Amino acid sequence: MQQNLEITDAPKIVVAIDGFSSSGKSTMARELAKRVGYIYIDSGAMYRAVALYALRHDMFKEDNTVDLEALLPHIPELSISFQKKAGEDGVQHTLLNGVDVEDEIRDLEVSNRVSLIAEIPQVRQRMVELQQEFGKQKGIVMDGRDIGTTVFPNAELKIFVSAGLHERARRRWRELTQKGMDIRFEEVLANLAERDKIDTTRKVSPLKKAPDAIELDNDAVTHEEQMEWLLKLFQETTENIENESRG
Ligand code: CDP
Repeated sequence: MQQNLEITDAPKIVVAIDGFSSSGKSTMARELAKRVGYIYIDSGAMYRAVALYALRHDMFKEDNTVDLEALLPHIPELSISFQKKAGEDGVQHTLLNGVDVEDEIRDLEVSNRVSLIAEIPQVRQRMVELQQEFGKQKGIVMDGRDIGTTVFPNAELKIFVSAGLHERARRRWRELTQKGMDIRFEEVLANLAERDKIDTTRKVSPLKKAPDAIELDNDAVTHEEQMEWLLKLFQETTENIENESRG
């Protein structure tokens, strides 16, 4: 039986978890938030929601570039929010303009386009604004690519997760086929490799480790070991802040 931490009196902090696609950061972030009673925000889901919007409105040109003239005027009016579903153990669904799009944003079609959307400066600016708004009251765990570098550069705890490309592709392929998706391993591998490339080389907020982030290479680490490590770090961080504030 899992024990949740008693943190009622502890100061609330911001936890930023960044890393490569399918490195397991979302699972870690979601579970940490649940165990310590924090809000969890999946920033990747927000970029996925914008990619879905662009796909639905035919905003990708034939050469696969984004039709910026069509997309940009709609960015300020897009509403992206999260809602917990009853009976799903606190799993959050992503809402785009008030409609649940959680399943659709995980489709390969969206995965294949999302990094093209995420490299548009105006899209990033809007998403970062929304993300910072979510984190205003602290008590939040957010995962993504630029959370510790751009969204919350002052986050009290920053983690950077990595794992080898093949291991990550195996994890993602397993996840998708378990959901019933008919997809080849090579397709998943190619998608992750392409996204890694775009995410690490784009001009605005490329994926990189913040200097003060703690690195975790989880190729050979079990989920339980990883959670134990993360919970200990969380506890140490909040204790240190508490001690400092007491002088
Ligand atoms: O689930 P997975 O690790 O495959 O990716 P995700 O977290 O859902 O993010 C999807 C895509 O959104 C990434 O490949 C990035 O292109 C983009 N993203 C970003 O640019 N900045 C973030 N903070 C989060 C995601």
